[in-house]
Amino acid sequence: MLDVSRHFFSKNEVETILDAMAMHKLNRFHWHLTDDQGWRIEIKQYPKLTQIGAWRSGVGFGLDPKSTTAYGPDGRYGGFYTQDDIREVLAYATARHIIIVPEIEMPGHATAALAAYPQFSCSGGPFTIPLEGGVFTGIYNPANDATFTFLDDVLTAVFQLFPGKYVHIGGDEVPKDTWKNSPECQALMKREGLKNEEELQSWFIRRIEKVVSAHGRTMIGWSEILQGGLAQNATVMDWIGGATEAARAGHDVVMTPTAYCYFDFYQSDNHATEPKAAAWGGPLTLSKVYSFDPMPTNLPPQLESHILGTQGNLWTERVPSLKHAEYMIFPRECALAEVAWSSEAWRNWDNFMRRLHIHEQRLEEIGVNYRHASVEMPEPNSSK
Ligand code: ACM
Repeated sequence: MLDVSRHFFSKNEVETILDAMAMHKLNRFHWHLTDDQGWRIEIKQYPKLTQIGAWRSGVGFGLDPKSTTAYGPDGRYGGFYTQDDIREVLAYATARHIIIVPEIEMPGHATAALAAYPQFSCSGGPFTIPLEGGVFTGIYNPANDATFTFLDDVLTAVFQLFPGKYVHIGGDEVPKDTWKNSPECQALMKREGLKNEEELQSWFIRRIEKVVSAHGRTMIGWSEILQGGLAQNATVMDWIGGATEAARAGHDVVMTPTAYCYFDFYQSDNHATEPKAAAWGGPLTLSKVYSFDPMPTNLPPQLESHILGTQGNLWTERVPSLKHAEYMIFPRECALAEVAWSSEAWRNWDNFMRRLHIHEQRLEEIGVNYRHASVEMPEPNSSK
């Protein structure tokens, strides 16, 4: 998963990442196209999504303005993909056997959309696109039918562009106070017999799931879509748990737990060896990624087929350039690809490291930046 909202990556930059993915047999690209800090996909029916929602006043996140080149002609930070750009990237991915899973975040992480169309919020706005990270009150208003018309229109446009089976609708980190404090939402909950805001979230997601299913697609949502009851045909992306519960209920799951799959985390404890402001959290070392077993423990063997696979996530709050993104992704993605495509019994860290020293030359050959594994572990046979 690449977050292109917190920082924007051009279509050519995305294609570079697709090239490197194909080299590692990574066959799904989860494109996080919308979030609080930027809306990145042109929707013709709602032009303000990109006229307003794709731009913010600066690079933000405390970063050096020179750390990025994603500025518009008027000096604002941001960018977006036209529908032609999306079609080009889709063709590029298809030629490399990669299926793209687009993500349109709802009901939370929607400030950029609501800066453009505040009428779909509870407060009515106005909203300013934030220059920092976090969880914001810019969330959709489920008590307004027009909100669902808007989201239905957006998803329909997404389905017209993207041919893949899956669409990701987010669902994570919804600050429930906004709905608690909204008389309209409280009245809706009463009308629908919903006991709390978690059930309202579930009601919202179920309604969206019907739209997705009506188009013959399958909805994916982050762990939180389990709260208040899981929608019928939903697939869960486990970042903070829920895999076993979802699989037991007959749902498919993608494993991307923070402890092993969050490539926005530092790669070591020694931050002096990392680029300034490179990351946060963790550390998520290469060896830790390699030690990951995506199959949840305690899952009965007959349910293992519900675990579709694993993915690395690059959230980009602190990642303003392609070179920096590559540094965060590689070589951790090399380790995760091997985890995804091999049996646990076969995996061997020393063997992986020996091959990685050679593989680094391949990354160099295609011009992909990476963190030198030798920072973490000496060369084989070296006296260090
Ligand atoms: C997430 O990291 N909020 C899915």
